[in-house]
Amino acid sequence: MTEPVAYSVTDRIAVLRVQNPPVNALSQAVRAGLDAGLARALADDGADAILILGDGRTFIAGADISEFGKPLAAPGLPDVVNRIEAAGKPVVAALHGTALGGGLEVALGAHYRVAVPGAKVGLPEVLLGILPGAGGTQRTPRLTGAEAALDMITTGKHISATEALRIGLIDAIEDGSPEEAGLRFTRRLLVEGAGPRPTRGIAPAPHDPALFDAWRAKVAAKTRGQIAPVTCVDAVEAAFTLPFDAGLKRERELFSGLMASPQREGLIHAFFIERKVGKLPEIAGVTPRDVAWIGVIGGGTMGAGIAAAALLNGLSVTLVEQTEAARGAAHARIAGILGDSVARGKLTEPARDTLLGDRLTCVTEYAALADADLVIEAAFEDMAVKKTIFTALDQHCKPGAILATNTSYLDINEIAAVTARPGDVIGLHFFSPAHVMRLLEVVVAEHTAPEVTATGFALAKRLKKVAVRAGVCDGFIGNRILASYRMAADHMVLEGATPYAIDAAMVDFGFAMGPFAVSDLAGLDIGWATRKRLAPLRHPNDRIAKFADMMCEEGWFGRKTGRGFYDYTDPKRPVPNPQVAAMIDADRAARGITPRAFTAEDIQRRYMAAMINEAAKVVGDGIAARPLDVDVTLLYGYGFPRWRGGPMKYADMRGLPSILADIEAFAQDDPHFWHPAPLLTDLVARGASFDSLNG
Ligand code: CAA
Repeated sequence: MTEPVAYSVTDRIAVLRVQNPPVNALSQAVRAGLDAGLARALADDGADAILILGDGRTFIAGADISEFGKPLAAPGLPDVVNRIEAAGKPVVAALHGTALGGGLEVALGAHYRVAVPGAKVGLPEVLLGILPGAGGTQRTPRLTGAEAALDMITTGKHISATEALRIGLIDAIEDGSPEEAGLRFTRRLLVEGAGPRPTRGIAPAPHDPALFDAWRAKVAAKTRGQIAPVTCVDAVEAAFTLPFDAGLKRERELFSGLMASPQREGLIHAFFIERKVGKLPEIAGVTPRDVAWIGVIGGGTMGAGIAAAALLNGLSVTLVEQTEAARGAAHARIAGILGDSVARGKLTEPARDTLLGDRLTCVTEYAALADADLVIEAAFEDMAVKKTIFTALDQHCKPGAILATNTSYLDINEIAAVTARPGDVIGLHFFSPAHVMRLLEVVVAEHTAPEVTATGFALAKRLKKVAVRAGVCDGFIGNRILASYRMAADHMVLEGATPYAIDAAMVDFGFAMGPFAVSDLAGLDIGWATRKRLAPLRHPNDRIAKFADMMCEEGWFGRKTGRGFYDYTDPKRPVPNPQVAAMIDADRAARGITPRAFTAEDIQRRYMAAMINEAAKVVGDGIAARPLDVDVTLLYGYGFPRWRGGPMKYADMRGLPSILADIEAFAQDDPHFWHPAPLLTDLVARGASFDSLNG
């Protein structure tokens, strides 16, 4: 077994090389190895200076996150960093890859920092619900001043070596491998006779005392509901109001408080599941097909968004529309999206012109798709339309081309059956706007080949999206669960809650928007069309709200028509549409309902119970492979608050018996809607959690 920290001496410089692949995380063994290496170097008469670097692709990417929540095994990182800082010989950290979190804190404990050109540094702890707990909040501002430290620590962003040099976080950028760069820099120090330079000895720069209150207000507004970002400001403030050791102590107290918070648990769950979601036995070791050129059928909002996402990530696109006019409109739509990227500084004008001129072709002939590697159909949601398109694709596309549909609910097995290659057919369900939203449901049909599924996942990665495997059913994972909690919201309105109280309660829970505001944004005509489509399939006891139909009949389709549940006369400040209440009253009266009061907690419990119950059915039916696939879907596609980890994690943390008890209580009044999911009942009976099914 390789040692976690290797020791060698070159040119009288002791090199401590961290070897803990893949990211040199600071496990207990690495912390102990650094401690031992430091002691050996200090005692080594053959070493005048010490160089810390990382083996492999990166310096140290932080604490070992998998140790969080477990009892801390000595030595603790703060002690290791303090001992590095107290060293009587100069200590240099040579950074490459990503020096993050505890990794950067080790470097801040060193007396000098040199980076190779591509290196990035950051203190991303806040994104995990904690703060830099090994002196990062005390040492960073001593090097950079308050503003730059607050910016790094409250956002968790990674910054380039150039930026790190500019703000004073590192001392130099040197070419070469980390070892070459580090040795060259350290030799220079020795020639200059430079000695140890502890960061703790630097006096914090003067600052405006009002700065911290201003940052607390700014951060609280931006990260509503989260405790870590504001606590980060408190910790940095301590660097300016307390002596160094007292500041460290304060940092530790704040760190421990955050470490014990459920938000930390939720955020770390999110970190691990988004890495696990693509690990599926069915595609393990399966080589995806090469995809360089994609076809898109349909240039509406969705098709244009997909085309733009592909172009922005290095693929060539041929888009097929039905008419000359539609072809032109599609081109203009894509140009508009790329223009926004230019305006936001994400794309240069010449690059945009190359994409539009050389990489994009908009045509009206399927024959132009003959050499496409993968085609995504984003046409009208109608089975007959899809079948016609897939028949044409089957005729025109080369053997081995993947034929994908972006349908949000139609039966992909039925679509695949019109082709002679059902193994090449798959669902790739993007979320609107497709060039922005990170979620991609990869819908695996009955005959989809594993290689095709693997290609779906590889394409998602290329497009910087998070792919979730889903099975075929109406709505797949996300929209099927949405249909259920949206129905629960409508029922609450019928029973007495206002749409505005429901929106407020769910925003308070942590969603960016409530369900009625979301419906207004998506367009109320979408729900109307769904209700009409599903009407023939409904059970007589299904309670389908009529007030939404009444609104649509008035032509109120939400934001795009200026009116929906809200009135958008001032688009920045929507107010409740005053005429909606009368429609709700009429709907209640027709059902003989006497409205009753709902507290915010009542609303949240019902909404979450509906979501979790349907999610448990989705897992139980095998539509989602594991509970974590549901969590990732809701986090990336439906605005679920990341700090709660996803609905299944939330359910586990609240306790499944409590969720089941709610569902059983609601079933007393409405046994037709509220049926406990068999999986949920089973887990409660066994005293198990959703997480136990995540593998
Ligand atoms: N601890 C444990 N495992 C980690 C880890 C960490 N800090 N960082 C990454 N990993 C694991 C990942 O889970 C993944 O494991 P699998 O291969 O088993 O899935 C593997 O390392 C590779 O990670 P990625 O797939 O993310 O690789 P990447 O090249 O895309 O990204 C990275 C590399 C930028 C370092 C990214 O992994 C990352 O952002 N990691 C987290 C960094 C972080 O938040 N550090 C701060 C930790 S908190 C801290 O340090 C607090 C403190 O002071 C006490």
